[in-house]
Amino acid sequence: MGLNSSSRGPLASALLLCFCMLFLGVHGGSRRLYIVYLGDVKHGHPDDVIASHHDLLSNVLGSMEDSMASMIHNYKHGFSGFAAMLTEDQAKQLADFPDVISVQPSRRLKVATTRSWDFLDLNYQMPNDLLNKGRYGEDVIIGVVDTGIWPESRSFSDEGYGPVPSRWRGKCQVGQGWDRNNCSRKIIGARFYTGGKDEEELKKSDYLSPRDAHSHGTHTASTAAGSVVEGASFHGLAAGVARGGAPHARIAVYKIAWRTASGGTTGNDAALLAAMDDAIHDGVDILSLSLQLVENSFGALHMVQKGITVVYAAGNDGPSPQTLGNTSPWVITVAASKIDRSFPTVITLGNKQQIVGQSLYYQGKNSSRSIFRSLVDGGQCTADDLNGTVVKGKIVLCATPNSPTEEGPRAVLREAFQNVREGGGSGLIFVQYTTDILEEFVSMPCVLVDIDTGKKIRKYINAGSSPVAKIEPARSITGKDILAPKVASFSSRGPSPDYADIIKPDIAAPGAGISAAVGDSYQIMSGTSMAAPHVTGIIALMKALHPNWSPAALKSAIITTGN
Ligand SMILES: *[C@@H]1O[C@H](CO)[C@@H](O)[C@H](O)[C@H]1NC(C)=O
Ligand SMILES: *[C@@H]1O[C@H](CO)[C@@H](O)[C@H](O)[C@H]1NC(C)=O
Ligand SMILES: *[C@@H]1O[C@H](CO)[C@@H](O)[C@H](O)[C@H]1NC(C)=O
Repeated sequence: MGLNSSSRGPLASALLLCFCMLFLGVHGGSRRLYIVYLGDVKHGHPDDVIASHHDLLSNVLGSMEDSMASMIHNYKHGFSGFAAMLTEDQAKQLADFPDVISVQPSRRLKVATTRSWDFLDLNYQMPNDLLNKGRYGEDVIIGVVDTGIWPESRSFSDEGYGPVPSRWRGKCQVGQGWDRNNCSRKIIGARFYTGGKDEEELKKSDYLSPRDAHSHGTHTASTAAGSVVEGASFHGLAAGVARGGAPHARIAVYKIAWRTASGGTTGNDAALLAAMDDAIHDGVDILSLSLQLVENSFGALHMVQKGITVVYAAGNDGPSPQTLGNTSPWVITVAASKIDRSFPTVITLGNKQQIVGQSLYYQGKNSSRSIFRSLVDGGQCTADDLNGTVVKGKIVLCATPNSPTEEGPRAVLREAFQNVREGGGSGLIFVQYTTDILEEFVSMPCVLVDIDTGKKIRKYINAGSSPVAKIEPARSITGKDILAPKVASFSSRGPSPDYADIIKPDIAAPGAGISAAVGDSYQIMSGTSMAAPHVTGIIALMKALHPNWSPAALKSAIITTGN
C-alpha cells in the first residue's frame, strides 16, 4: 500500500493537459485507458447520455463500432464522462472538443472492531451516547468502495432488519460465487467494476463478482457497519463483542480493487469513477474509501455536491511529511491513531534476559512450538543481506534502515518478512522506531521491537558464540497504562503534497491493531484503511440523528468535536 496521490481539480487538470500537449508532441500509436470528463449531466435519460458519449467518441475514432469497442465505462448519473481505450493522438483530439473539460490517463490504485469503539466512548451500553441517539445508524446507507465483501460473515447478518429503504435504487449484480441471495436487508446492493482489465486474468486470483477474495473490503465494511457479533476474537487475542461504528446501517458494496496472484491488489480510477457515478444514482448517504489512489477528484466533488459525504483514508506512507493522499478540501481525510490495546510478546534470550515486543503471534495448531532457536543478525533482511546468511530454522533480527526510505518502514517490514520466510526462517524480530505496524504477519512469529531493544539484542548476538532466543505467543492487554491516542507512525502526514495550504488530514481514528471480519472469522489489521471506516460509522450515526445536515456540516461537526 502506498501511492503518492495528487488530487487536482478540473481546471488544474486541464492546465496540466495543455502543458503536456505543448511539450510532448509525440505520435502515440499504442492505446491506453483514458478518462474523458464532460462535467454535469446535460441529457435527461442515462441512455441519452451514453449515446452522446458514443457520438463524441465516434467523431474521433471514425465509426460507432470502434467507439463501442473502445468504451470501458460510461459515467452517466452523477456526472458525465467516460473511460475508453485511446491512443495519445485520439486523446488530444478529444481534448479539443468544446464540451470536453479534461482528458487524463487512468491511473492505478493500491489499497491502502472490538476494542476501538469502547476507546472512542461509543459503548453501546451507555444509554445516552451518539450510538443510541443515532439509532445505531438505522437506515443510513453506507457505500464501501473496496475489494468486495464476504456476505456469509456474521457481521453482515440481516436478522431483525426492516425492509430496504424505499429510496434505494441500487442493484445486486450477480457473478462468480455471488447470486441474488447474497444481497440482503444488510448488504442491500453490490456491484463490481473491472476498469477495462482482462476478466480471464482477474478470475485467476479473484471472483468476477462482488465477493471479496482479498479480505480488505470485508474488514473495512464490518468496521463501518458490521452488525453486533458476540464472542468475536482473533485466535483468542482481542476478544470481545465485534461491531461496526453504525451496526444497523445498510451496506452497498462497490468492488473496484482486485486481488492479484501475489495477494496484493490492482485497480484503477476509471473503475472508481464508475462506482462513484453509480453510488450517486443508487442513493448512498456516505461513501467510504480505504484506498490509496490518485483520484480524478471531480468524482468526489460531484458526490459532495449531491449531499453525499466522502470519507478517504489518508494513506500509509508516514512518518515523513507531505506523504498524504486524497487531500481534496471537500472530502474527509482520515489519519490512523493507536488505541489503548497492545499485544505484548515476550522474547527470551539465551542469557535469560527477557525483552518485550509487539506481535500477533499466537500458538496455532500448525505453528512451531516456543523453543529456543538460533538467532542471527540479518541486517535489513533484503535478499542481498540474507544471501550467505543461513536463516533456515532460525530467528532473524531485521532492522529498518537508519534513514527513512521512500516506501516507509511498512514496506521494509513486508520485504524482510517475505525474505526470511522464503529462506525457511522460523521467526523475525523487526527493529524500528515504533511498534505500530501490527497486521497479517501471522504465518511466522514476527515481533516488533524499538531501537533500544534492537541494540540490546544485537549486542547479545555479537557477544555470544551461539546466540539463541525463544518467542512466546502474544497476550492482549488494554487500559489506561498504554499511551493513546497517538498518531501511528505509518499514517501519512500532511500538509497536502500538491497544495501545502490545504491542511490535512482532517481527523485521526483508530487504525493500529484493529480486529474486524475477514471471511468467516475475525482478523487484526493496521492502516489508515482501518481508520477511515471508523469515521464513516460515526458520520452514519450523525446522519441518522440529523438527516438534513450537509457533508460540510457533518465534516465540521466531526473535526471540531473529535479529539
Ligand atoms: C451466496 O451465493 C453463493 C453462490 O450462489 C452461495 O453458494 C452462497 O450460499 C450464498 N451466500 C449467502 C449468504 O446467501
Ligand atoms: C496444518 O497442517 C496440516 C498437515 O500438514 C495441513 O493439512 C493443514 O492444511 C494445515 N492447516 C493450516 C491452517 O495451515
Ligand atoms: C548470492 O550471492 C552469490 C555470490 O555473490 C550470487 O551468485 C547469487 O546470485 C546471489 N543470490 C541472490 C539471491 O542474490
